[in-house]
Amino acid sequence: MIYKTEAEVALMKEAALLVSKALATVAGFIKPGVTTLQIDKLCETVVKDHGAVPSFFNYRGYPFNICASVNDVVVHGFPNETPIKNGDIVSIDLGVILNGWHGDHAYSFIVGEVAPEILNLVKVTKESLYKGIEKATVNNRIGDISYAIQEHTEFKNGYGVVRELVGHGLGRNLHEDPQVPNYGKRGNGPKMKENLVLAIEPMINLGTHKVYTDDDGWTVKTQDGKVSVHFEHDICVKRNEALILSDFSIIEAAEKLNTNLNSSYY
Ligand code: CO
Repeated sequence: MIYKTEAEVALMKEAALLVSKALATVAGFIKPGVTTLQIDKLCETVVKDHGAVPSFFNYRGYPFNICASVNDVVVHGFPNETPIKNGDIVSIDLGVILNGWHGDHAYSFIVGEVAPEILNLVKVTKESLYKGIEKATVNNRIGDISYAIQEHTEFKNGYGVVRELVGHGLGRNLHEDPQVPNYGKRGNGPKMKENLVLAIEPMINLGTHKVYTDDDGWTVKTQDGKVSVHFEHDICVKRNEALILSDFSIIEAAEKLNTNLNSSYY
């Protein structure tokens, strides 16, 4: 596992915050009628205007700048021309390279009115991300993060935790060791030391945890067609409390001002 210097962590925070800034722009822009391809272009513009490059484009042949995963799409959805509609759950995942360092995070938006059970899925998935982050401290193990996420989502709320996709180390590469599963056992896995940078990303389904990949070779969907939610933060392991490099607060502030997003949730 690659541990970063303080100076490198500071550079990684810049990269993570650029992703947050782009996602905050999305939070102000997203509404029924907008397409995910428009969101792709918007993110590309924000990233390039800040002297960075979108990192997903061409990564293992991935053909877009963002992943746009709507409703039963878990992750890696292709942006397309289909207008977003009232009641959609839209996860936008964006990666950048800024000064040689990767930022990679994701946020799920609730467009208009949805059933209370879906609002709860969004709330619990976001909470589980923070419960995982709480465990990302020196001398804890990766399994402590994994268990905290699974406990909150599956054991306490009965949701499906996707097994096939995991969080990961982050640095000069988009995917570094270790893998960070969203299910597991306390005390298992690699022990963490200071300045390990991780992308923690629970992918949580309303129904079954089972997923399949579409014919396009990328799009991951739930087997039962029920909705899935994805949040991702970039964090740095510290002695007492993990340092969160990305920033949801600017996204949440923009969400509150957007009257096209769910009013009872925000
Ligand atoms: Co990631």
